[in-house]
Amino acid sequence: MAQLIGGLGTSHVPSIGVALDKGIDQTPDWKPFFDGYDYPKQWVADKKPDIAILVFNDHGNSIFLDRVPTFTLGVAEEYLPADEGWGRRDIPSFEGAVDFSWYLADKMVENHFDPMIAREIDVDHGFQVPMELFFGSQKENWPVKVVPIFVNTVQFPIPTPQRCWDLGVLLRKVIESYPTDEKIVVLGTGGLSHQLQGARAGFLNPEADQEWIETFASDPEKWRNLTREDYVEKFGSEGAELIMWLVMRGCMDTEVDQKHSHYFSPASMTGAGCVVLENK
Ligand code: DHB
Ligand code: FE
Repeated sequence: MAQLIGGLGTSHVPSIGVALDKGIDQTPDWKPFFDGYDYPKQWVADKKPDIAILVFNDHGNSIFLDRVPTFTLGVAEEYLPADEGWGRRDIPSFEGAVDFSWYLADKMVENHFDPMIAREIDVDHGFQVPMELFFGSQKENWPVKVVPIFVNTVQFPIPTPQRCWDLGVLLRKVIESYPTDEKIVVLGTGGLSHQLQGARAGFLNPEADQEWIETFASDPEKWRNLTREDYVEKFGSEGAELIMWLVMRGCMDTEVDQKHSHYFSPASMTGAGCVVLENK
């Protein structure tokens, strides 16, 4: 059976990709941020996952406000980097784990999650940036196949934290019933605190971010039991992206080892952090 090797959480701010494209990741402004990913990158290189499941949100690039599915599952052979207004970035496309995606599609429907199923869809910074942060920039190919799970965190009503958690619980069962010996890592992305619009535009909450990074592994109940409105209030309207980390946490054991965490603020207008979790 396939094996869940760990859970990774990270922010996905677009300017991180821009910093990599411009080669300014080692400047005094950016180095302290990127240094926090040395350990996760080494962890991924050592563990060599075969499949990465990325839980992320599109930002109006592949899914616009005219049609907003709560969950979308990619089943494509290949995912191109979305054009976010400046042309497609010069990074390799992502190879889909097609067989696993279709297996997951069937199990999601069987368990009443009913995602939109996407045979062709581009992936924006919400997907690209976590891949670069954990797998390193690549010239030709990514060393892993991917399964994108898009979660609507953009247009209310977004799913509840509990619903995201439940999806994670299902994902664990699906991984452990999948009849290959592939190694699978699950990435929860988004956050930390930020609000890019409205009266609170520019809102950051480093105290709440630190609390998240410190207790996400050990006390996920606290975060699962909050409402969507609590997330918006505490982390900002876009900081509510953090609910997607709960899909990853819901996959993991109740007790986990937090191998690494990092926090940096602000990256662009966002509190930026990451965690590396393993089951005990
Ligand atoms: C920013 C952060 C995000 O999570 C995002 O999706 C877009 C922009 C920012 O801080 O610039
Ligand atoms: Fe985002």
